[in-house]
Amino acid sequence: MDIQAYLSDKKREIDGWLSECIPEPEGLSRRLFDAMRYSLLGGGKRLRPILLLSTAELLSNGDGRLIRDFACAIECIHTYSLIHDDLPAMDDDDIRRGHPTCHKKFSEDIAILAGDALLTLAFELMSRPTAPENAAPQMRALHEVAVRAGCLGMVGGQTADVLSENCDSSEEVVRFIHSRKTAALISAPIVAGAVLAGASNSDLETLSIFGQRIGLAFQIIDDLLEIEGDARTLGKSVGSDTKNNKVTYPGVVGRGRARLDAQKSVEEALGYLAPFGQRADALHGIAKFFIDRVN
Ligand code: IPE
Ligand code: IPE
Ligand code: MG
Ligand code: MG
Repeated sequence: MDIQAYLSDKKREIDGWLSECIPEPEGLSRRLFDAMRYSLLGGGKRLRPILLLSTAELLSNGDGRLIRDFACAIECIHTYSLIHDDLPAMDDDDIRRGHPTCHKKFSEDIAILAGDALLTLAFELMSRPTAPENAAPQMRALHEVAVRAGCLGMVGGQTADVLSENCDSSEEVVRFIHSRKTAALISAPIVAGAVLAGASNSDLETLSIFGQRIGLAFQIIDDLLEIEGDARTLGKSVGSDTKNNKVTYPGVVGRGRARLDAQKSVEEALGYLAPFGQRADALHGIAKFFIDRVN
């Protein structure tokens, strides 16, 4: 499978959906809508919504409109997490997705509100009324996403990330941070896609572990790219972790071990796809891309 072609086809499709999901601007709050559109539509690999689509396709089931709404919702939550992550009170970064960060382009107050609005919009999208027979999987998928986005997932991980700045660390701490701040929002679309496609409990469990494993690898590689990557290719500032004295995976175990652990985590993840055979080709390709990526 040509994974690059697959990713760019899916990205194009998702970009089209996303451009339609922000409501029309109104009156005095017009600037909020401008900031939401700026951050949501100005780049991004769309990996999380792609993971949702690939998982639903693997199981060849699910209501098309619900899958589309959840795919867009996941990207809204991810984009909100990036806007808030870049704020002066957090990582204080100036460039995101190749453009000035939301608070630089607009202002800090508007960036906070744009993040709030994207998070809320995600729940609006995921809870849109649907046919009665879809209501149970919709509610379950919504719950699974909410748990992974909140205090037990991404927000909890971000909290551990900022509280660990300037601290000595251990492998246990960095794994705690990475599995929450990043892997939780990578497994969320996989689990949601599986639920919407009517997965059995055992498939759900298997795919959820797959998501956690590739999510950990994704953040280890993100830490490495901060050291070894090129700002222009990445579309964000390099050296931000050093500036903020962050706990990073290579910082704790060294660069060589970090890359090996990322590869090991993906190898383990691929083992969980074995029962699905060739139907899992896309997820397989995405998992490998997570290791090879340069941005
Ligand atoms: C960046 O995620 C934030 C992390 C969790 C490392 P991505 O690398 O998926 O960012 P975009 O969406 O492509 O900009
Ligand atoms: C990634 O945090 C996780 C979230 C944004 C929730 P980082 O701070 O490590 O990611 P980048 O490098 O800014 O994208
Ligand atoms: Mg951060
Ligand atoms: Mg950051």
